Amino acid sequence: MNNKNKIAIFGATGSLGGCVLNAIRSNDKFGNSEVVAIAHQRRSQPDTVQTRLADYADPDSLIQALQGVNTAIYAMPINREMEKWNATLVKAADICEVERLIRFSGPLADARSSFLPLSIQGNMDDRALAREFGQAAILRTNFLMQNFVTSHRYMVRDGSLLLPACEGRISYIDLEDVGSAVLKMLEDFDSYDGQIFDVTGAVAWNNAEIAEIFSDVLRKECSYQALELAAYSGSLKEQGMDAFQTQFMVELLELADMDEFSFIGEGIYTILAQRPKSFYTFVMDNKACWQ
Ligand SMILES: NC(=O)c1ccc[n+]([C@@H]2O[C@H](COP(=O)([O-])OP(=O)(O)OC[C@H]3O[C@@H](n4cnc5c(N)ncnc54)[C@H](OP(=O)(O)O)[C@@H]3O)[C@@H](O)[C@H]2O)c1
Repeated sequence: MNNKNKIAIFGATGSLGGCVLNAIRSNDKFGNSEVVAIAHQRRSQPDTVQTRLADYADPDSLIQALQGVNTAIYAMPINREMEKWNATLVKAADICEVERLIRFSGPLADARSSFLPLSIQGNMDDRALAREFGQAAILRTNFLMQNFVTSHRYMVRDGSLLLPACEGRISYIDLEDVGSAVLKMLEDFDSYDGQIFDVTGAVAWNNAEIAEIFSDVLRKECSYQALELAAYSGSLKEQGMDAFQTQFMVELLELADMDEFSFIGEGIYTILAQRPKSFYTFVMDNKACWQ
């Protein structure tokens, strides 16, 4: 065990990793912590942040990236190798004597599920909690509100939300809440060790209701257009997704259609002792993105 406080954030160029990096950098309490942003390909990190490149498929790069680190935070990208990559990362954390691991998982993860996204995330959660290193905790984050800022941005701007057909509601979570939750965990990890938190918003919305919220707040017409799942699957393939990634995404949407992701998790209430940010506030806060 080492005494320093060096925090490695994998996927620092992505949504989840990026929100943790921003949260740590904007909080004075972490002024004495050394932060290492782990990127895969891109190096577009602020000059003040130490960046290391690593590839989940390359065990040596993970060991190099984790040198001297005592806390590692990560989410696995959707990939047919993701379970193997997760095992490799856990092993590298063990070799490097990482003391604490925070893993971003998916909602309803369950190794026994017959649905691919749930079973694979469940297997990875089990592996992360098997404690080959010191302590571990898991945040099962529901769909991110920020997907409307990233992948769905131009649909909102153009007033036409062409989304996979889905009748179910989803309790979207805002990344600001996710970042704040991670900071709270880092301050007192013993209180969270070994636990799994369902991180969702406080209210679940369906696609038509989301479109209405955008119309209300942005004061311009925004409507939901249903894209049949077969067409959605075809468009994913056109974008270069392989069969595994496509199946993963389509099954997620099938589950959403069955209203499986409408539940309200306790995560933010328990960790932050507050109500998660609302979708209305999220839209108000990010208005400029869709102008
Ligand atoms: N978005 C959601 O609504 C949501 C909700 C819950 C859970 N999740 C889960 O969390 C995962 C991450 O989500 P996200 O929205 O943060 O994804 P994202 O924005 O696409 O970011 C993915 C990150 O992973 C890095 N990466 C990709 N391949 C890698 C590799 N082989 N080795 C090391 N790093 C690699 C990327 O680095 P480069 O940029 O350098 O390629 C990027 O920083 C998702 O795949 C999903 O399973 C997502």
